[in-house]
Amino acid sequence: MARIAVVAGDGIGPEVVGQARKVIDAVLPGVEATEYDLGAARYHRTGEVLPDSVLTELAGHDAILLGAVGDPTVPPGVLERGLLLKLRFAFDQYVNLRPSRLWPGVAGPLANVKPGEVDLVVVREGTEGLYAGAGGSLHRDTPAEVATEESLNTRHGVERVIRDAFARARRRERRKVTLVHKTNVLTHAGSLWARAFEAVAAEHPDVTTEYQHVDAAAMFLVTQPQRYDVVVTDNLFGDILTDIAAAVTGGIGLAASGCINPEGRYPSMFEPVHGSAPDIAGKGVADPVAAVLSAALLIDQLGHADAAARVTAAVATELASRTPGVPLRTEEVGDRLAGYAVA
Ligand code: NAD
Ligand code: IPM
Ligand code: MN
Repeated sequence: MARIAVVAGDGIGPEVVGQARKVIDAVLPGVEATEYDLGAARYHRTGEVLPDSVLTELAGHDAILLGAVGDPTVPPGVLERGLLLKLRFAFDQYVNLRPSRLWPGVAGPLANVKPGEVDLVVVREGTEGLYAGAGGSLHRDTPAEVATEESLNTRHGVERVIRDAFARARRRERRKVTLVHKTNVLTHAGSLWARAFEAVAAEHPDVTTEYQHVDAAAMFLVTQPQRYDVVVTDNLFGDILTDIAAAVTGGIGLAASGCINPEGRYPSMFEPVHGSAPDIAGKGVADPVAAVLSAALLIDQLGHADAAARVTAAVATELASRTPGVPLRTEEVGDRLAGYAVA
């Protein structure tokens, strides 16, 4: 049976991961789950964020389930970079997979979009771009302070994520890939992305392609999300666009993701798109659906497609039976989902 590592993390992380665990236990009873205490509490207690020994242990698992990372009492970046990005980079999770669909019964904010009409997936590059950490600052805390933050793009890194996007598109009905970048301004990185995209597209004549600048894509995601099938884009654009995609498909509480190492050399990690939500942490009102759908991606990746489908069906049942405006309780949603999934 599979061995998974669980990093519940900060804020609402433990609340939503608790529900995802219930659902995993319901559909895969024998799974071995080990909890790792990482995040703000450990940092305050020990000063450590992600010790090498823990990283090595995590590497020995089949997959990682993560809740959320980040806390207002910890300086920005310490946990986000030191824990979350360190994991994505160390495990070469270069495909950051972020599906969005408008579920039946979910009232999206758009009058012109009906449930079932949006079914897109953003393939966000996960290890490069502006996230790489290239940059620095000079003359800190003086009037002459300078800061740079450079976007790192390698042909290898760009081409492999584009290949993954095309491979995914070929397994989908519409077989369409949209490249999103800003080639009209970011001419160095943009040109590399566009040329890599053209080269991979030439090998896939059965896949329809299009290109959009990121500003237009942000607009079209809000006005016509139905037009997208697979979207491939860089790390920061993908971060922003997937919060938009979440907002137009019922909210961030429903948005799942997978940080995938497609070759399987390292464990992939599954986590909601949302963060630790300090504004609602501890209140028991966070929507666990994003974490549960992330668990479905994890279960599928472990090779249990039937069990994953049962989790997805449980979410469909839950969402179809919600009454708009009625507040939810995290634990109750988790109990219902586990019940639907096992039935
Ligand atoms: P956030 O996603 O935590 O919260 C944004 C808004 O969405 C808040 O109003 C929050 O209450 C709401 N929200 C989020 N998840 C919800 C859920 N499941 N149910 C209902 N409402 C939900 O983003 P933020 O406030 O910008 O960031 C808070 C912290 O989380 C920061 O430290 C940030 O760096 C971190 N963060 C971590 C991750 C991650 O671990 N993958 C992702 C995003 C942000
Ligand atoms: C996300 C988050 C992270 C990101 C942060 C917390 C590092 O916003 O998973 O979307 O930017 O990738
Ligand atoms: Mn984000």
